[in-house]
Amino acid sequence: RRVAILISGRGSNMAALIQAAKAPNFPAEIVLVMSNIAGAGGLETARDASIETVTIESKPFGKDREAFERAMQDELARHNIDLVCLAGFLRLLTPWFVQQWDGRMINIHPALLPSYRGLHTHERALADGVKIHGATVHFVIPDVDAGPIIVQGAVTVHDNDTPDSLGARVLQIEHRIYPQALRMVASGQISVDGGICKSISA
Ligand code: GRF
Repeated sequence: RRVAILISGRGSNMAALIQAAKAPNFPAEIVLVMSNIAGAGGLETARDASIETVTIESKPFGKDREAFERAMQDELARHNIDLVCLAGFLRLLTPWFVQQWDGRMINIHPALLPSYRGLHTHERALADGVKIHGATVHFVIPDVDAGPIIVQGAVTVHDNDTPDSLGARVLQIEHRIYPQALRMVASGQISVDGGICKSISA
């Protein structure tokens, strides 16, 4: 399975995926890292790992989301990509693009979905006083942060946590669960039934 990772920033989840994919028998190969932001930190990390990078800036396309996405789609097709991992990709995707990758595009979200969809998840979790927080890898559907859940990881919220300290603890979990989820999806270990992921027992 040929995988592209889409990023907009530092790419620490991307780095975790690249690292994990080096393991023998890992069922996926990271062949492309694509950024919509020129100079995203993750691009250099990817190049250091000898992975091809492409930048397609979304800004010049303005409100024409589909034109931007067609440019991405061309690039993904050119690299014969089978699976797309969104890893801190800060751009809403149209239903058209999502449909192209139905069941083949996954995302990591820094909260235990279906709680805290959207932005500022750590601030909101602290404001609510929840005691357990975490991260979720899910399939991407047109609704944001709402697709079938593949893997979740939880952390304990501490009384003295700040959004940054809590976010750092969640990020460690993200780096563990994203490779697990990619492994499951790439090896065909899961099926989606009625919006719910189930593992296929061998
Ligand atoms: C992560 O917290 C991820 O959950 C969210 O955006 C952040 C990206 O961080 N979607 P990084 O670029 O992977 O370091």
